[in-house]
Amino acid sequence: MKTTGGSDVAKRRAGKQAAEEVEDGFVVGLGTGSTTAHAIEAIGEAVREGLDVRAIPTSFQSRQLALEVSIPLTTLDAVDAVDLAIDGADRVLDDPDSSADGTLIKGGGGAHTREKLVDAAADRFVVVADPSKLTDRLEAPIPLEVLPDAHSVVAEEVHDLDGDPTLRAAEAKDGPVVTDNGNLVLDCEFGPIADPDGLATRLSAIPGVVEHGLFVDLADTTYVGTTDGLEVLEH
Ligand code: 5RP
Repeated sequence: MKTTGGSDVAKRRAGKQAAEEVEDGFVVGLGTGSTTAHAIEAIGEAVREGLDVRAIPTSFQSRQLALEVSIPLTTLDAVDAVDLAIDGADRVLDDPDSSADGTLIKGGGGAHTREKLVDAAADRFVVVADPSKLTDRLEAPIPLEVLPDAHSVVAEEVHDLDGDPTLRAAEAKDGPVVTDNGNLVLDCEFGPIADPDGLATRLSAIPGVVEHGLFVDLADTTYVGTTDGLEVLEH
């Protein structure tokens, strides 16, 4: 699994807390990443103790882990509703005075397209994070999943928005990262993002962009695990 910063103890605490929200009969969206993995493991433990759930994974990684821990799986088109989605984030805007509080930057694992689909479909979306993800100013690069044929024209459009795109390179293969959907990822620096909603709208409008990693007005609650406790942020 891709490793990110932050303490594993803190991530486990957040993941386990989110898993506590899963009730008998729930359909649960399973996000991707090292923090969500702790939630998936905890849900698996509860399933082995008799909890009845069906889960919708958002990536090859979360599907594999869910299978390993014996969580029954389903798909978005086979259910009437998703009760709860649990997912990690690369950045969480923590600024209660801002209307954009709770905006996320996701896609560090290149799974944000399916994550957004499932997180947005859920009645409740809970983010699991460690303190390194919290920020009072959004300025990390925004991942764009793009159709392979579109990467150069999308890059030009990003330049026109004063962004600086970089094609994400694979680490254990020559060439670019290829997502679970067969697409490429452009990581786009925009500097400080004062208007995430406006930028999200402009990015969505670029032909060839499958999905961007700005999650605006989707998260309900963030569980922030720490090495000795847990903080709950309501958005
Ligand atoms: C994958 C994601 C992840 O949720 C994000 O990268 C956080 O990962 P981690 O919990 O490993 O820090 O958006 O696309």
